[in-house]
Amino acid sequence: MPIVPSNRRTTLRPSAPEVQPLTHVIAIANQKGGVGKTTTAINLAGALAEEGMRVLLVDMDPQANLTAGVGINLNAVARSMADVLADGRCTFAEAILPTETEGIDVAPAHIDLASTEGELFTALGRENVLREAMTDAIGAYDYVLIDCPPNLGLLTVNGLVAADSVIIPVQTQFYAMKGLNNLVKVINAIRTKLNRNLKVLGLLATFYDGRTNLARDMLDEMRVVGDHHVFTTIVRSSVKLGEAPLVGRPITAYAGQSEAARTYRDLAQEVIDLGKA
Ligand SMILES: Nc1ncnc2c1ncn2[C@@H]1O[C@H](COP(=O)(O)OP(=O)(O)OP(=O)(O)O)[C@@H](O)[C@H]1O
Ligand SMILES: [Mg+2]
Repeated sequence: MPIVPSNRRTTLRPSAPEVQPLTHVIAIANQKGGVGKTTTAINLAGALAEEGMRVLLVDMDPQANLTAGVGINLNAVARSMADVLADGRCTFAEAILPTETEGIDVAPAHIDLASTEGELFTALGRENVLREAMTDAIGAYDYVLIDCPPNLGLLTVNGLVAADSVIIPVQTQFYAMKGLNNLVKVINAIRTKLNRNLKVLGLLATFYDGRTNLARDMLDEMRVVGDHHVFTTIVRSSVKLGEAPLVGRPITAYAGQSEAARTYRDLAQEVIDLGKA
């Protein structure tokens, strides 16, 4: 487990930004587990930060894989999203920590988030808690990436309500498209009732192995089923990406010349371009 150094940089949030830049808030969601949501959040953040973007990662998963994956010692997290969401025990801004990677801050998760979900259930405006908590604190960032847990519960719903758009990683090693219907139904319901601006930024093929028919079929299916944009960038299965959680930094920072790093740079460029469209 990486140790948080004592000489940590300060977070990126200034007390009062002079110009309020446009902040893109992107949720990364799929109720299926292990499809590459957290990997996408960390490495897209790395590639965006390389482009000079200021990025905030928000960990909405009690597993806290994203928090650990950017090098935060989970035992040293004093204030987490659990405190932010449960009765506002701290403000969102107070929970934000700097990471080892220049340009990337994180609002960390904690295992307590699992019980927070239960507490949220009885809260008034329970789907809007994250959105409201974030509003005043994200102006200093160009991108806020929200890593959702592998279910369609209230934490994921809060992530989607707080977002402008959603990236859906789809693992191309399984017939994963069927399960997407439920996610798309939730997204549509949120769009109708809670966040009319929410759009699907794109489906992202992950764990791609072009040598298998299944992977190629899956990619074709992603492109024809539904009317969602499919990112041109395809994330291949990569040993280096699998190792990344142990390193505590995005792949762009620790294996910058690797194919996987180039892939996430391509994805970042697509995301930036889609934001301009
Ligand atoms: N393209 C890839 N190639 C190889 N391994 C990968 C790739 N993407 C992710 N992994 C590894 O697969 C595992 C699952 O990835 P990840 O944690 O990103 O998925 P997830 O959707 O966030 O999972 P969960 O639903 O549990 O939150 C991790 O160990 C990760 O390092
Ligand atoms: Mg995850």
